[in-house]
Amino acid sequence: MSDLSTRVGPVHLNSPVIAASGTVGSVVDFAATIDFSFYGAAVAKSVAPEPWKGRPPPRLAPSGTGMLNGIGIQNPGIDAWVDEVGSRLADLPVPVWGSAVAHDAPGFGVVARGLEQAGVDAIEVNLSCPNLDDGQLFALDAVASASVVAAVRAGTRLPIGAKLSPNAERIADIAEAVAQAGADWVVLTNTVWGAAFDVNSRRPKLSGVVGGYSGAPLKPIALRCVWEVARVLPGLPIVGCGGVASGEDVVEYLLAGASAVAIGTVHFAEPRAARRIQRELERFLDRTGTARIEELIGAAKPW
Ligand SMILES: Cc1cc2nc3c(=O)[nH]c(=O)nc-3n(C[C@H](O)[C@H](O)[C@H](O)COP(=O)(O)O)c2cc1C
Repeated sequence: MSDLSTRVGPVHLNSPVIAASGTVGSVVDFAATIDFSFYGAAVAKSVAPEPWKGRPPPRLAPSGTGMLNGIGIQNPGIDAWVDEVGSRLADLPVPVWGSAVAHDAPGFGVVARGLEQAGVDAIEVNLSCPNLDDGQLFALDAVASASVVAAVRAGTRLPIGAKLSPNAERIADIAEAVAQAGADWVVLTNTVWGAAFDVNSRRPKLSGVVGGYSGAPLKPIALRCVWEVARVLPGLPIVGCGGVASGEDVVEYLLAGASAVAIGTVHFAEPRAARRIQRELERFLDRTGTARIEELIGAAKPW
């Protein structure tokens, strides 16, 4: 039997497959639908210091083989989140990571303190939401990203990961800045900016016009980010994310340098995808005589 366990910085995971933020609600909400024991960790939807209404519909639109979303991080705010979700986290069969979002660095610090109080096991810092109406995308700027991560670091003793954007021109610079500010790992990546139009109504397919594009077409873009960051910063752990739908997709990310991989959009078509992906991973390891999944991390060969 192959060993699927891995490490992401200070965190041990039983499986390299993580449920991506925003695709499994607060995790608690989906516990009746999804068997979370197939995941190494599950990341809750991002939560802000105050309640956010999110954008009006339409907020989701298939486009090509991927999906556009412009939810705008609808969430109840950290105080309500702690009340609603906190007491139910301990019953779940998986470590839950909270995800923090805010309009400024102190706001991220407030959310981080709340998430720790609620009992999450780690915190993802969402620097890369493509749907904030003031257009802020911290992850495009190394100084802004570092100041957010420093505020989170000051607000919690939990392990923290910084979720970056494929829209960043020089993603390794951003990764280096957040690592120096105290991030234990980076998540590569969030969605990429995209848009789509209905040719009959002539309207944009999202109310906010521009949204985040995810699913299969994101995979080569996010893999390029993983490869670049792993090469420039070999000591920095990476969670890969973007377009993963099979065991071989997970292996690709590991070879490029990720230590674990988050799956998101695949949940919409197949809520129980993690069980299948785990079986495919096990078969891959058997077929290739690989005893431990960690042997694959960064193991891509040069031409
Ligand atoms: C409907 C939807 C909502 C999302 N909400 C969040 C969110 O709240 N916070 C976050 O960090 N990422 C969010 N994401 C991004 C995903 O976590 C993931 O980074 C992205 O979708 C790429 O992975 P995928 O191609 O496997 O979906 C969302 C994605 C989708 C499709």
